[in-house]
Amino acid sequence: MKKEAGYVLDVSYPAHFHKEIQPVWLSSLTHFLGTVAPDISKPYSYCELGCGVGINLLVAAATNPLGQFVGVDFNERHLAVARDAARSIGLDNIRFIQADFARFAQDNNLFFDFIVSHGVWSWIAPNHQQSMLQLVQKFLKPKGLFYLHYMCHPGATQMIPVQKLLNELAHHRAGTAEQNIQAGLELLGRLDGAGAFVDQPRLSASVQGLPGKGTAYLAHDFLTDYWRPQHSVDVHRLAAQAGVTYLGSADTFDNLEGLSIPGNLQPVLASITSPAVRETVKDLARNQHQRRDLFQRAPERLSAQQHLQQVDAIRFRLLPEAPRSGAVHFATPIGAIQGPEEIFSPLLQALAARPASFAGLRQLPAFANSVGLLSQSLQMLMWRGYAHPLRQGQLTNPEPVGRLKEWIVQQQLNLQVVEDCGTATYQLPDKM
Ligand SMILES: C[S@@+](CC[C@H](N)C(=O)[O-])C[C@H]1O[C@@H](n2cnc3c(N)ncnc32)[C@H](O)[C@@H]1O
Repeated sequence: MKKEAGYVLDVSYPAHFHKEIQPVWLSSLTHFLGTVAPDISKPYSYCELGCGVGINLLVAAATNPLGQFVGVDFNERHLAVARDAARSIGLDNIRFIQADFARFAQDNNLFFDFIVSHGVWSWIAPNHQQSMLQLVQKFLKPKGLFYLHYMCHPGATQMIPVQKLLNELAHHRAGTAEQNIQAGLELLGRLDGAGAFVDQPRLSASVQGLPGKGTAYLAHDFLTDYWRPQHSVDVHRLAAQAGVTYLGSADTFDNLEGLSIPGNLQPVLASITSPAVRETVKDLARNQHQRRDLFQRAPERLSAQQHLQQVDAIRFRLLPEAPRSGAVHFATPIGAIQGPEEIFSPLLQALAARPASFAGLRQLPAFANSVGLLSQSLQMLMWRGYAHPLRQGQLTNPEPVGRLKEWIVQQQLNLQVVEDCGTATYQLPDKM
């Protein structure tokens, strides 16, 4: 098994697409959150730290020709896949840099409107986390967005001893990372079967779910020497030291406190004014296990009127998986939520007919005098993968998108490119 800085190297991480890090999603969400987003109708720059095989950047670059995209990763094997794909798709607005974050922080001289990192922070050594923050501090432009995903307490806490066991076992074996994961899964299965987790049924269920995730994914998830779920309040403190302000989550559901916090806990939350304590209470109330935090450098807050103007201008379309009418069932992390037919049917029908702006959708009788209800309903549809904001402007050259689609088919990825939204969607049964 090969590692660098305690992180596994000898197996490739599978291509995972995250809609929440794409520029159209991030800039639209920033407007929902009430600040001025980087203007993506003009040329802009975007960097992903720990880009893996580059699937997020490839989709972003092919569908957002105004962006210049940079991916940084120390795993040459990952970057070889990413570079080959960029070449065969014919992308000239993407670059992959092989470096660890400390070296990139030293050598880089580019400034970015977006710096994003998914699936990296809680897996790497504290000095590499510091280098990521240095990059944000030095190279994120004013109004620039920083997206940071990480595992958090209290939801991920139960996995600390499981990760420790898997990683420790791997250190005592000669095999490859995937062989060591396989051995670890067998040991965990025997422990579970013998009743080791009998007083922790949630942990037992999580352990039973591990084999279905695939050994390559699990090797990256668990065979690191620095797996540490974080308290969001600690991460926010570090981010503040790097000069960025917490705006909210890039996961739209998490921002809808009225829905994502169970009703009986709402009065408790309402009684708390300190933002740091509120965020900690929300993590506890939701048993949050991962976060997709969105920060901004020098955010410019919009007045109520400007805020409505910005959101009014966002245009939405339905995504291929969306129903065309009816009530909508949302399987959320805190349980099932039924989106009422009288609200969702008119919204779905309007969007099924043609893309529409927020201002246009406000004219529907279901949302008369209720901007908040429309905002919440659209963000639930976005979260569920049923609706998405449109990118401004037309693609002048559709060829790279065509070649990206061919590449996706060749790679047998279950991903559908939605070029006018600058994104892609998975065809998944139901979101949990
Ligand atoms: C779990 S993968 C995530 C890939 C992608 N961001 C995603 O979400 O699908 C983590 C990536 O971070 C890279 N990485 C980990 N530590 C790093 C470091 N210190 N410097 C550069 N890359 C690093 C790994 O090589 C790996 O490709």
